Amino acid sequence: MRVASIVGSPARSPVGIWLCLCNLSFKASMSLGRTMLVWLAAVCLARAEPVLPQSFTVYSSPIQLRYGEVYNQMQDPMALPPHIVERYFDQGKALAISGFDADMVRKKNGVETKVKLSDHYLHHYILAMGDNSTMNKIQERAAKDKMFARMLTGCHAMTRSHVHSFLTETNDDPDIVYFGSAAGAEYRHNRQRYQAPFRRVIKKPHVWAPTFHVINTNRPLQNTSLPYSPLLECPCTPQRKIDVKNGSIDGQSPDPPIHCSPEFAATGNPSCHLATYVGGWRCCEHGVFLIDTDKECSDPKCSQELQDEVFMKYTFYYEDADVGTRKMAPSACCDATGTGQGVENIEYDVPACAPGTPVEKCLHVVETVQPVGFYHRHPKSPNDRHRANELVDLVFAAPHLHVAGLSIELFDNITNKTLCSAVASADNQGGIMYGNGTEAGNENGYLVGLIPCTWSGSDAPRFQRNHPLRMRAVYNASRTHTGVMSLWLMEVSPVADGDVVV
Ligand SMILES: *[C@@H]1O[C@H](CO)[C@@H](O)[C@H](O)[C@H]1NC(C)=O
Ligand SMILES: *[C@@H]1O[C@H](CO)[C@@H](O)[C@H](O)[C@H]1NC(C)=O
Ligand SMILES: *[C@@H]1O[C@H](CO)[C@@H](O)[C@H](O)[C@H]1NC(C)=O
Ligand SMILES: *[C@@H]1O[C@H](CO)[C@@H](O)[C@H](O)[C@H]1NC(C)=O
Ligand SMILES: *[C@@H]1O[C@H](CO)[C@@H](O)[C@H](O)[C@H]1NC(C)=O
Ligand SMILES: *[C@@H]1O[C@H](CO)[C@@H](O)[C@H](O)[C@H]1NC(C)=O
Ligand SMILES: *[C@@H]1O[C@H](CO)[C@@H](O)[C@H](O)[C@H]1NC(C)=O
Repeated sequence: MRVASIVGSPARSPVGIWLCLCNLSFKASMSLGRTMLVWLAAVCLARAEPVLPQSFTVYSSPIQLRYGEVYNQMQDPMALPPHIVERYFDQGKALAISGFDADMVRKKNGVETKVKLSDHYLHHYILAMGDNSTMNKIQERAAKDKMFARMLTGCHAMTRSHVHSFLTETNDDPDIVYFGSAAGAEYRHNRQRYQAPFRRVIKKPHVWAPTFHVINTNRPLQNTSLPYSPLLECPCTPQRKIDVKNGSIDGQSPDPPIHCSPEFAATGNPSCHLATYVGGWRCCEHGVFLIDTDKECSDPKCSQELQDEVFMKYTFYYEDADVGTRKMAPSACCDATGTGQGVENIEYDVPACAPGTPVEKCLHVVETVQPVGFYHRHPKSPNDRHRANELVDLVFAAPHLHVAGLSIELFDNITNKTLCSAVASADNQGGIMYGNGTEAGNENGYLVGLIPCTWSGSDAPRFQRNHPLRMRAVYNASRTHTGVMSLWLMEVSPVADGDVVV
């Protein structure tokens, strides 16, 4: 059951299609006479409602990995296309992003092909976009502050809260906007489209800097009954030096710290303590191998294996921001392992149910209650100046689960109304999609899609920032899984005039 509008392709009204043709013929006519151009321009202007979004496409720097190796770092900032910089940065206009598509590709001899999850698994991505000088400030701080640097590039980056906190120290309206954050394997069917008037607004778009967590999984499966690569659950291999007394993995403290909310820790989940930690993203740092390199490789860097190369590709849809545009900002909800505002451990384990448990009872269920918005006086974002009773609209809710996820729901904890839900079903129509084929986007046995809910200016649920939302996620517990996640990655939009409930 889908309770909110599923993000679909924008309705193709005859006017829209006509405009499309109009744009095409407009371009084609550039070499035709000036009269023709003016005529076409006049017709196009006369029909200029509704305007279809324009788009631009960017590619990441190469991601080079050997089989079993992990890529987990922030790439150097790259310039946005010149026409975007010219129109928005140089002319001082705000860029309004209405959505984007993500893909992973390989480029060989000028031919671009899609890369399957069974070839390179995208664990998650985070994209920063905005002003170069602000991006430089973040990097300068990272150069001086080792901890900040690790938070920026490593697994901690998923939480976004560190940069959120740094940026809001000086400016309540940051010049850098973040996309993604924990969206991963589902990227091809996780349609990022925002309904008007809600947009990701970027004031000084100049550069973008992505962080990727990718695993090279490109080997036929061996010794497993699983249809997917066991590497995607980031097993801690014998090469990981886990020092429980010192609280370190490979001589560094896990980042973010291994820490669950008291409620979640009370469930005894192995992922909440280093002593019982056996797999997940803390064993999945940049350059680490997820195979036993003593057994499978000639040396710890597996240098006998060929290094492969893939790229992430993003197409952004955009328009000029105008007076009616309403900007989007991160929500403080929901991480299954968290409490209060923001995230905690982010990942957890699904322990296998006891042998003989009936299928319908062999489930692992987690729940948490968190406020919809960030507001002042919470430890993770001490600089946030928003008041608890300010109003926000909930405008975008993207679920995030790993393989074996069966359902994830979002409720208003006061009315118990369901706000969004995604459920696995045989026909793949419930919002959680599992692949059953061989092509990219339909990889057999992989979780390949999670459909977000979006709201418009007329139907977005409105809450005080401290309004509690509840999430519940269910996994299939027929076998053990490490490092799973149950998150709602959500965006709110502040209500104008600082409205408060009186
Ligand atoms: C961003 O700023 C840095 C430092 O001033 C500079 O080296 C770099 O070339 C700039 N990047 C772009 C894309 O302009
Ligand atoms: C698979 O299992 C066989 C038999 O147990 C073993 O000899 C082999 O090393 C295993 N291969 C891998 C890649 O673990
Ligand atoms: C203990 O952990 C700290 C980081 O918390 C690290 O700097 C140090 O190298 C670790 N010691 C050992 C023996 O791993
Ligand atoms: C959420 O709802 C439950 C059940 O009604 C209630 O016991 C709990 O106190 C609520 N939590 C918050 C933070 O409102
Ligand atoms: C809230 O709704 C859920 C799902 O419909 C239901 O399982 C639960 O019992 C309800 N809780 C309350 C307190 O009504
Ligand atoms: C594969 O999944 C699609 C939905 O994505 C479904 O319509 C189809 O029936 C499935 N095929 C098989 C053989 O299960
Ligand atoms: C859980 O997974 C097992 C093994 O794949 C399967 O047999 C079972 O039907 C699944 N349970 C549910 C509730 O989907």
